[in-house]
Amino acid sequence: MASRYQQVYDAAKADPEGFWAAAAEDLHWTKRWDRVLDASNPPFYRWFPGAETNTCYNALDRHVAAGHGDRTALIYDSPVTGTVRSFTTRALRDRVAKLAGALQAHGVKKGDRVIIYMAMTPEAAMAMLACARIGAIHSVVFGGFAPRELATRIDDAKPVMIIASSCGLEPGRVVEYKPLLDQAIEIAAHKPAHCLVFQRPMYQAPMQPGRDLDFDAETEKAAPADCVPVAATDPLYILYTSGTTGVPKGVVRHNGGHMVALNWSMKNVYGVEPGEVFWAASDVGWVVGHSYIVYAPLIYGCTTVLYEGKPVGTPDAGAYWRVIQQHKVAALFTAPTAFRAIKKEDPKAALLKQYDLTHFRTLFLAGERADPDTVHWAEDNLKKPVIDHWWQTETGWPIVSNCMGIEHLPVKHGSPTRVVPGYDVQVIDDEGQPVKAGDIGNIVIRLPLPPGCLPTLWNNDDGFRKSYLSRFPGYYNTGDAGFIDEDGYLFIMSRTDDIINVAGHRLSTGGMEEVLAAHPDVAECAVVGVADQLKGQVPLGFVVLKAGVTRPEEQITRELVQLVREKIGPVAAFKQAVVVKRLPKTRSGKILRGTMQKIADAQDYRMPATIDDPAILGEISEALQPLGYARQP
Ligand code: COA
Ligand code: AMP
Repeated sequence: MASRYQQVYDAAKADPEGFWAAAAEDLHWTKRWDRVLDASNPPFYRWFPGAETNTCYNALDRHVAAGHGDRTALIYDSPVTGTVRSFTTRALRDRVAKLAGALQAHGVKKGDRVIIYMAMTPEAAMAMLACARIGAIHSVVFGGFAPRELATRIDDAKPVMIIASSCGLEPGRVVEYKPLLDQAIEIAAHKPAHCLVFQRPMYQAPMQPGRDLDFDAETEKAAPADCVPVAATDPLYILYTSGTTGVPKGVVRHNGGHMVALNWSMKNVYGVEPGEVFWAASDVGWVVGHSYIVYAPLIYGCTTVLYEGKPVGTPDAGAYWRVIQQHKVAALFTAPTAFRAIKKEDPKAALLKQYDLTHFRTLFLAGERADPDTVHWAEDNLKKPVIDHWWQTETGWPIVSNCMGIEHLPVKHGSPTRVVPGYDVQVIDDEGQPVKAGDIGNIVIRLPLPPGCLPTLWNNDDGFRKSYLSRFPGYYNTGDAGFIDEDGYLFIMSRTDDIINVAGHRLSTGGMEEVLAAHPDVAECAVVGVADQLKGQVPLGFVVLKAGVTRPEEQITRELVQLVREKIGPVAAFKQAVVVKRLPKTRSGKILRGTMQKIADAQDYRMPATIDDPAILGEISEALQPLGYARQP
C-alpha cells in the first residue's frame, strides 16, 4: 500500500482543484470563489477567482469570533532591549484595527502600496496586518539594506506611505533607520505623502513637519478600522528579492491562495496544532518572516514568537534554548547558519543542558544548504527531528520537505526529502528533457504552481515570463540545480544564476559587481560566493584596475568594501576584494566565475575548454593565496 505521504501527494496531483478547495474550507470568505483555478490564460494562473476575503480577518478576527480572543497570538522576545511582551489575539486585533484606522485617516486605501522599513518589534507585524486589514499592499524592506536599495524599491512600488522604525538594534550598535529612510526618499524619484515613524527610546528621530507622523500618537487617536473585503486575487504584499541583476524583483503574493497554502502547511508540513507556539527565528524583511513569523502561525491559530536578537551574543549561545523553554516552543524554524554560529561558540552544547526542552518537537532548517555536519550536531544534541526543507521567496512556502504532519519519512542527510503535495517538481537538462534519477539538472516546477506561489512580478508580467517561464516552456524555473534520487528524494546542489546565499540571506553578485564597476579606478570586476564556515557563503570581489592607476591596492580595496556597504548595505557582508591583472574569460568574453569560485575554495576544477588563456587561472590562485583562499603553495 502507498505510504500516507504518497497518498496525499497523489490526491493533490490527481485533483488539484478538489484538494485546494477542501483546504480553503478551513478559512473565512466573504464571497466564495467562482472556480478554484482559472487556467484560461497560461502562463498566468489564478487561484480562487471571484472569491472575496480578508487576510487580517483570518489571522485575527476569525479567532476572536471563534472564542479564542484570550489566546496569546504574539510573544515579543527581545534580548537586545531586555523585553518580553505578549499580546492576546484580541489585544493584537484591537491594536491592528487602530493602526489601520490611522492609515485610513491619512488617505491609505485598498490597492495603495505601503513600504515597511522596521526593526523586529511587534509594530512591524502590526503594520503588515494593518495594511492587510484595509486592503493596502505592503512591501517590507529588510533593515540591513542601504538607502539606495530602499530607494529602488520606493520607485518600483510607489508607496503612498512608508512606515519606519526610528532605529534597529544590532549587537553593540544602534542602527538609525530614519536617516537612512530620509536619504532613500531623497534619492528616489517617487515621494510618499507620509512617513509614519515608530520612535524607539534608543533613538528619537527628527521629524519632517507635514510629511512625518508619529506612529504611537496617530494610532492612539485613530478610530478602529474594519476589515475591507478584497478579491482572493488582489495582492496582499510585494516582497523584493535578488534577481540576476542589481535590480530586485517584486514578488507578488495574492490574498486568497496565500492564506490557504500557509494554513495547510502549518498542519501538514510543520505538524503543529492551533494553540501551540511556533517560532521562526528570522526577520520580517525576509519571506520566512512574512510567511512563518506573521501570517501562517496567526492564520492557523498558533502563538508566534517575534525574536529581536541573535543566536549567539544575546547574551550567549544558549539564547535559542532559553526562548524555547520560556515560551514552550513546539517548533523552531531557522537558517542553518544560526546553528553553525551556536555550534562554533558552544561545540559541546553545554548550555543546552541548562534548559528544559520538553515541549519542543521539531527543528526546521531552510534558506540555504543544510550541511550534514550541522544537521548531525543538531540531531545529536537536541535528540529531536531536524528537518531540512527547500523553498524560495517566490513560492512563499515549502516546495520540498519532510511533511511532519503527514508522515515522518526517513531522513537522508543532504536532502530536504520529498516534493510537498501540490507541487510537481522535475529535473531537466538544458534542452528541457527529463534526466535519469541521480543525474544533475535544472530543477523546475510544472505549471500551474500551487496556491500561494507568485502569480507575477509587480507591474512586470514580462519580467515574470523572462525570469522564470521562458527558458523551459510549461515550467517555472527555480534557478536551482540538483537531482532526484531513486527514492524520490531531492538534492539541491547549486544555483544556476549569480545568486549567492550569505547567512541565509539571498544576494545577487551581479548587484555587487555593478557597485564595484562604478569605482573610478576599476576597469573590470567579478564577484563570486566563496565558502564560509559560519555564513555558508560570503562574497569575494576580483577587480582589474584601469591602466595608469598608481594608488595603493589596499586603499582601493578598502574603498570598494565601504562602497558595497554604503550602496547595498551591511547585509551583503562584502568584506574582501582582491586586485588581479586579468579575469579569466571564455573566447566569447564570458567571465569564468564558476572556475574562479572553485579556485578560491581549493576545489578541483576542469579546465574550461573555451578558456581564452589558461595561464590566468594560475595568476588568480596566486592573488588569492595571501588572503587564505585557494590551494596554499
Ligand atoms: N538592520 C541593520 N543591520 C543589520 C540588520 C538589520 N536588521 N541585520 C543584520 N545587519 C547587519 C549586521 O549588523 C552585520 O553588520 P556588520 O557587518 O557591521 O557586522 C551585517 O548586517 C551582516 O549581518 P548578519 O548576516 O546577521 O551577520 P552577523 O555576522 O551579524 O550574524 C548570524 C551572523 C549567523 C548570527 C546571523 O546571520 C543569524 O542570526 N542568522 C540566522 C537567522 C536568520 O537571519 N535567517 C534568515 C533567513 S531564514
Ligand atoms: P530565498 O528566496 O531567500 O528564500 O532563497 C531561496 C534560495 O535559497 C533557493 O533557491 C536555494 O538556492 C536556497 N535554499 C533555500 N532553502 C534551501 C535548502 N533547504 N537547501 C539548499 N538550498 C536552499
